[in-house]
Amino acid sequence: MLTVVLILVILGCCLIVWFRRNNNEEPPALNGYFPLIGHAHLLIGAGNIHLWIYLKEIAYECLNAGGVMSIFHGPKTVYCVADPDDFLTVADTCLQKDCFNEFAKPWLGDGLATSDLTTWKEHRKLLDPAFSQAFTDGFLTVFNKQARRLVKELEVKAGKGTFDHFVYTRKNALETTFFTVFGEDFNDKSFLINIYQQKMDQMLNILVERFKKPWLHCDYIYRWSALRKQQDDCMKILLNISNTVLKKKKAVYLNNGKNQNIKKETNGPKFKAFIDLLLELAIEKDAFNDEEIREHVDTLMFGGHDTVASVLMYTILLVGSYSGVQKKILEELQSIFGDSNRDVTRADLSQLVYLEAVINESMRIYPIMPISTRRLDRDVQLKNCTLKKGRTCLLFIFGVNRHPMWGPDAEKFKPERWLGSTTPDCPTAIAGFGVGRRVCIGKSYSMMSLKTTLAHVLRRYRVSGNHSQMVAKIDVSLKPVSGHHVKIDSRVQ
Ligand code: HEM
Repeated sequence: MLTVVLILVILGCCLIVWFRRNNNEEPPALNGYFPLIGHAHLLIGAGNIHLWIYLKEIAYECLNAGGVMSIFHGPKTVYCVADPDDFLTVADTCLQKDCFNEFAKPWLGDGLATSDLTTWKEHRKLLDPAFSQAFTDGFLTVFNKQARRLVKELEVKAGKGTFDHFVYTRKNALETTFFTVFGEDFNDKSFLINIYQQKMDQMLNILVERFKKPWLHCDYIYRWSALRKQQDDCMKILLNISNTVLKKKKAVYLNNGKNQNIKKETNGPKFKAFIDLLLELAIEKDAFNDEEIREHVDTLMFGGHDTVASVLMYTILLVGSYSGVQKKILEELQSIFGDSNRDVTRADLSQLVYLEAVINESMRIYPIMPISTRRLDRDVQLKNCTLKKGRTCLLFIFGVNRHPMWGPDAEKFKPERWLGSTTPDCPTAIAGFGVGRRVCIGKSYSMMSLKTTLAHVLRRYRVSGNHSQMVAKIDVSLKPVSGHHVKIDSRVQ
């Protein structure tokens, strides 16, 4: 009797899923799905290299289907959006994140990327001023100092053949982020930097593994899995590092008062670490408790270092692959700095127009966050279909970056498309930082840091490489599998 009931229930579920999947009002489905498991068989057991190939295929299929498509992850219907207008509609209509962001919640808690909507609105308003121009201008001294450090560390590689430059950009970006978040130079604490990076990598891998296995999306099943045990071990170390620094900084703040860490460079803007702003909001305005400060700090560390390091790495690789582009950057640097080795100033940054176009184009070719996610908290009417409330929507940044609006040479690295009137007249054109109200809070911080670092590195070294040899993989963000693709030669003999 029980067996019959069970069979009937399974058949009933299959019918419901089948009916939903053949509903004409739904966006077209990606080919190759099976009952109940849907497209999950394409992901289970797939390595992270395959995951990137698979995501790219979905993005192209989605563009061929008109920009919106459904995929079935187990019994779940997940929407994919690569049309730029529909992307913006979803991004701005539904602000709640999903998938990876939900999985990262035990670690990042109420940090901006993982908090629920009510908390997010409140906290984003409090944190936005920390990323205003006036505030981030104070970081320019740090960015210059860190760029000089990178140039120095690269010296051993000059004239020595190809090497993995990602190792250098990662270490440097992690130190920079530690500095701007905690207000401390961790350069001499290489053990801490290494362990932090290792555990962060492990954590990202765990999130990707969970995403690939639909049964682990259920919190109850996940709780008993070996992956959850790994997550707990990893988190223990990451949390321990942040809590130790936080405790120390809080004690200093309480002892010395709120202005102790604000340094005024001669003639320069004030430098204030993010943690000091968070402590100020917590202590003076009772805005956060200790756990919330820890969650914001970890979110900024996670959001801030790997992203900038990767964009830096891809940009250097692409510049090395196109000698004409490198020549134009050099001409621009020469016109601003001449032969001087001086620091980059605020005024210089707005003159580095071609360099900015190169960074934008690198982020279009290699979007380090190829997807952003949303949970649909209402039905969303798009140009040609309606997305149903309650489902997950994958916003394909990679898809928007290959949309026909970029013309027939969309695959080509061409920084000139960002100059003058040739950029598509579309608010989603710069999709690499996300768009709309949940756009990356660190956007202008990142551009400042990237331009400063690249100006220092490229006026000191001639770079050569071949990006077409690079194999990429998904570790939440887009990463190279191995990075022996560039060589550098000193310009100064
Ligand atoms: C080039 C470097 C960076 C790239 C490409 C990047 C990309 C992104 C993307 C795609 C999103 C999601 C937007 C969405 O869902 O619509 C995001 C969110 C976020 N990013 Fe970045 N990011 C970068 C640098 C940074 C930096 C330097 C920080 C902090 C220091 C940061 C902190 C954050 C935070 C906190 C969020 C969540 C914002 C919210 O939901 O309110 N990011 N970023």
